[in-house]
Order: sequence, then C-alpha cells, then structure tokens
Amino acid sequence: MSGNPEKSAVTSEDKAVTIPAQSGGATLKQGPAQGETLLKVTGLQKHFPIRKGLLQRQVGAVKAVDGLDFEVRSGETLGVVGESGCGKSTMGRLITRLLEPTAGKIEFEGKDITHLGVGGMRPLRRDVQMIFQDPYSSLNPRHTIGTIVGAPFRLQGVTPEGGIKKEVQRLLEVVGLNPEHYNRYPHEFSGGQRQRIGIARALALNPKLVVADEPVSALDVSIQAQVVNLLDDLQEELGLTYVIIAHDLSVVRHVSDRIAVMYLGKIVELADRDSLYKAPMHPYTKALMSAVPIPDPRRRAAKSERILLKGDVPSPISPPSGCRFHTRCWKATETCRTQEPPLLELKPGQQVACHHPENAEDQAPQDTVLLSAATEAIEVVTVGGDEPAKTAAEQTPEPETSEPEMSEPEASASEGSASEGSASEPPASEPSVPEPSGEKRVKE
Ligand SMILES: Nc1ncnc2c1ncn2[C@@H]1O[C@H](COP(=O)(O)OP(=O)(O)O)[C@@H](O)[C@H]1O
Ligand code: SF4
Ligand SMILES: [Mg+2]
Repeated sequence: MSGNPEKSAVTSEDKAVTIPAQSGGATLKQGPAQGETLLKVTGLQKHFPIRKGLLQRQVGAVKAVDGLDFEVRSGETLGVVGESGCGKSTMGRLITRLLEPTAGKIEFEGKDITHLGVGGMRPLRRDVQMIFQDPYSSLNPRHTIGTIVGAPFRLQGVTPEGGIKKEVQRLLEVVGLNPEHYNRYPHEFSGGQRQRIGIARALALNPKLVVADEPVSALDVSIQAQVVNLLDDLQEELGLTYVIIAHDLSVVRHVSDRIAVMYLGKIVELADRDSLYKAPMHPYTKALMSAVPIPDPRRRAAKSERILLKGDVPSPISPPSGCRFHTRCWKATETCRTQEPPLLELKPGQQVACHHPENAEDQAPQDTVLLSAATEAIEVVTVGGDEPAKTAAEQTPEPETSEPEMSEPEASASEGSASEGSASEPPASEPSVPEPSGEKRVKE
C-alpha cells in the first residue's frame, strides 16, 4: 500500500463497496509496525521425491521451489509472477505451512515456524490464511455459505461476540454479499461471488497475512477487476498484508507494492513495482513485461515490440546448469551456462539474478561470446494499432514462429500442475493477457 498512486484511485464501481466497522469478534490485532518484516524466508526449498519400483525407491525429485530468499513487509502487497509450473503455488503452500519444506527457514514475526507441528501451528493458522485459485472446487458444495464462512471459528474454537451467525453475516457484507444469503449453497452463486465467499472465509479470524494463489484467474475478465479491487479495499480497511500470486503481470501490476518474478523454482528479480515496470533488469522479466498489453488507449496506437521466448520451460526435475534461464535467454554466454548468478541488489530496492542484466552494469563483462542457442532464443514481433503482429526485420521467420510461446505461458509449461485449469488463451497476434477493463484502477 505504501505510496502506490494506482491504489488510491477509486472507480465509481468501487465507491459502492463500503466496509462495515469491525464487530467485537474480530478486532485489529497488534502486529509489526507498517513496513517491518512480517515474514522472512531464507533458502526455502521444496523437492517432491519421484519414486519408482516395488520398493518405491527415490529416483529423483521435482525441484519445485529451489532456494528462495525474500521477505514480506507488514502492510504491503508482494506480487509473485511466473509461468505455470515455476513453483508459485508450492511457495504459497510452504509459507502458509500447508506443505513441509525440504530445506530453508520461514520466520513469521521473528519466530521460526519452519517445522512447527500441528499444535504449534494452531495459533498461526489464525494469522496466516490462503485464498485459493478455483472458487468452484475450494468450497464444499454440500455446506451452506454460513457453515463455510463460519468454519474457521469452529475449527479454532473461537466464539465471536454476538455469535458466529452474526459475525458471518457481517463478513458477507464486508465482501459485498447479501447477509441474508447465509443459508444458500455455493452452486447458487456466480464465480465472482464464490471467490468473495472464499475471501470472507479467509478474513474470518482477522489474519495478518493473506496468501492469494491466482485469486482471479478462474474468473471472467469483467469480474476480475472487482475482486482485485475488493482485496485492495479490504487491505486498507483491515491492515492486511498480502502475497498475491499470478501468472499474469497485468493482474499484480495494479495491486502490488513489490513484485517477485519466479523462473523454475527461483526468484530471478525482486523489485518495487515502479522500478520493475520502468526498467526491468532480468531478461526474463523483460520478456514477461513485453507480453503485457499497454492499457492506455492513447498509447495503443503506438507500435511496440514484443519478445516471444522460443522453446519450452525446462523440467524442474533436472533444471539447466548455471543460470536456469540460459536455454531460453538471448544474452546467454558461457558464464551463464556454468555459473549460477546470485540474487544481488544491483539498484536500490531491485534485486536481480543475472550476469548480463539490462539497464545496469554487466556482472561478467569479460564474457562476451553468446552461446549459439542464444541467437535463436527469441523472436521479436512488432505490434501496434489494429495491425496484426509481424515478424521484426532482423529475425528470419520460421514455421513454428506463429506458435504463441511466451504469450501462452500456461500452455508452454512442461510440468504444469493439473490443478491449474487454465483456459485457452488467444493467439500471438492478440494480447496474451486480458485488457484491463475500465473498472481497474489504471492511472498511467
Ligand atoms: N504434490 C506434488 N508432487 C509432485 N510434484 C509437484 C507437486 N505439486 C507441484 N508439483 C510440481 O512442482 C512444480 C511447481 O508446481 P506449482 O507450484 O504448482 O507451480 P505454479 O503454481 O507456478 O504453476 C511443477 O512441476 C509441478 O508439477
Ligand atoms: S545470467 Fe545469462 S542466461 Fe541468465 S538471464 Fe542473465 S544473461 Fe540470460
Ligand atoms: Mg499455481
């Protein structure tokens, strides 16, 4: 929230959202002061073992999360983006302790929670909540909304002042639903309304940290902005801290204070939002950004270049040596192939893991010879106005270049999780991500 001008802009749509005052049942808790570290992650890993044969011997591992270092500050929104299969959901489940880490450390409010057992985790379950991607499968169809939103109170043995029913109805109102629908079932609600129910459930115990795993990607584009804006309003009102996961930069752009870009289980760039958008330093970030359409109608007529990455995302079972992105990077050199670049703060507030970053001093200036694959790694297409995309003059068109590689991140993942349920996306000549509708708080 800190000084994000887009966040303060309120559309007429959102003026209708009023958040009733907290009842006695859920009062604001004392936590770290605004801007202080709420969650700290060091060297976090999750390797899922691959077992084979009668004896179920381990023959390998899916390195879903492979050494993450970051912190989440109180009151901020940290956006996490990357192609499907890069480990975002696994990271979300690790920091909410729904998964046991393979290695590394997770600290919440300065306390080591990495290996807390069920009993030790009980108080933490109130403070850290998760909103799931699919509002259809995450709500039990046999339970009423009242039972679903009231479940956290029952699980934690908490009785809010005025009783559970009254508090649940207040929460329904908070998320913009009719409190009289308390006795209805999930199938009676639309996707957007169901996601509001999921949000109400996550807020029930007045958490400090909310991890939202692709909270709008299963929703209609027209509804996405409303739900994103609701999360934003709730953050301001309730002093929440968010980690919002998305495969689509256009979603996190509007709500994040800082953004972490993930590739194959690692963070490749972590920066405050404006720095990342104005001057991305990691080539992968640059490619992701170029796939985001320009939201300003005045600038849509202008031509812009889009970088389409060729080749598939490598498997997290045996990630490439050195820099994991070297098999798809147009700047890759021998150093990239052999030495893993550390995540360094190359500019104030901008951490990057790259030997040859954009917009900054070269970290391996002696190494100038490109790997042969690098020269073929991308295709640059020019898009502009209503013209269809065309191949840039310096690139030789190849038959497969019409494939929407970078513009279809979900489909290009080789190890994408089955639960993603991604919808098909438009071809390369179309913007790969939905145009932000007028409801989004765009202020260019
Ligand atoms: N329970 C699991 N067992 C084995 N592999 C898994 C499991 N969960 C996720 N993975 C694998 O870990 C990688 C990262 O998955 P995930 O965290 O879901 O990525 P994302 O959310 O970025 O799409 C993928 O290759 C996925 O197939
Ligand atoms: S380290 Fe090398 S391969 Fe990796 S992103 Fe940077 S330039 Fe590309
Ligand atoms: Mg996921």
